[in-house]
Amino acid sequence: MSDIQATQTRLVDDIRAASDLDALEALRVAALGKAGSVTALLKSLGGMTPDERQEQGPLIHALREAVTAAIADRKAALDAAAIDIKLAAEAIDMSLPADTAPRGSVHPVSQVMDELAEIFADMGFAVATGPEIEDDWRNFTALNIPETHPARAMHDTFYFPEVGEGAAQRMLLRTHTSPVQIRTMMSEAPPIRIIAPGRVYRSDSDATHTPMFHQIEGLVIDKGITLGHLKWTLETFLKAYFERDDIVLRLRPSYFPFTEPSAEVDVGYKQEKGRRIVGGHGDDDGHAWMELLGSGMVNRRVIANCGLDPDEWQGFAFGVGVDRLAMLKYGMDDLRAFFDGDLRWLAHYGFGALSVPTLSGGISA
Ligand code: PHE
Repeated sequence: MSDIQATQTRLVDDIRAASDLDALEALRVAALGKAGSVTALLKSLGGMTPDERQEQGPLIHALREAVTAAIADRKAALDAAAIDIKLAAEAIDMSLPADTAPRGSVHPVSQVMDELAEIFADMGFAVATGPEIEDDWRNFTALNIPETHPARAMHDTFYFPEVGEGAAQRMLLRTHTSPVQIRTMMSEAPPIRIIAPGRVYRSDSDATHTPMFHQIEGLVIDKGITLGHLKWTLETFLKAYFERDDIVLRLRPSYFPFTEPSAEVDVGYKQEKGRRIVGGHGDDDGHAWMELLGSGMVNRRVIANCGLDPDEWQGFAFGVGVDRLAMLKYGMDDLRAFFDGDLRWLAHYGFGALSVPTLSGGISA
């Protein structure tokens, strides 16, 4: 074997043994670079006699081709191996437990307000809102509760300091959502059908009272409205809300300054496994009555206070505690838990953010 063939064998062996791309590049430079050994041999052809060139030329060219081909092969093999290593390192391990991000849930009070808005929308009621900081006139006087009226004492009102514009302008935290009746009647022409959900405030706190709670007010103003419309509306709403047909109501004569006549509405229920289950008749097999909401025909004076003619327009109104409705339907027993912000309580009672209540889907499904 000639020297050149021996060189070729050695170089090709070295190239095949190159452990990585850097080593391979070093071998390429040493052989084919400007000062490389193969390059030197190619240059030496110029100084040879024609006979020598005829003999050596093909060997040297074959050497260059063999070395070039060996480098290309090795480079392809090393590139493929590098990709395999990278793929192995970046593989996603599907068996690892997923990182669970904390998910929010809808508070039961918000859920119930959404359910009520859906139920009343189906009966043609719009949602109306008003400010929680209200003036004395809209919260009391316009609702037929004048300054000296004993009903004011029932409301345990949080007042703001007087600012000298007279008692009628005194600001307070609204004690009920009824001022939204006044705002609506003064800004919209009848017929009116609204519900007004929102926060209300009274200086009161125990297991069934919190200083802030939620009410929904209902108001209908139209021509020829009677107590019958009120009873049908309440019955329809409570059947849809409690999702049962055997809701039995009892309208008990009562007194509210803003309605005349007024009725406290009781609903039949039964105690089952320590829970109040709404439904059934109030007088048989263990059923009892529970007071649920206040209602009545809107007082003529309230209609007149809002600039409407009470001979032309009548209506009914009702007010109900949202927190109480939520407790009854979803079996919660302490009202204060509603406002503690305890995430464990919310995880237990909260509602999925995407399960929006609809009548067609089953209101609380
Ligand atoms: N506003 C009354 C309350 O908070 C409830 C009510 C509203 C009663 C409308 C009758 C009619 O006590």
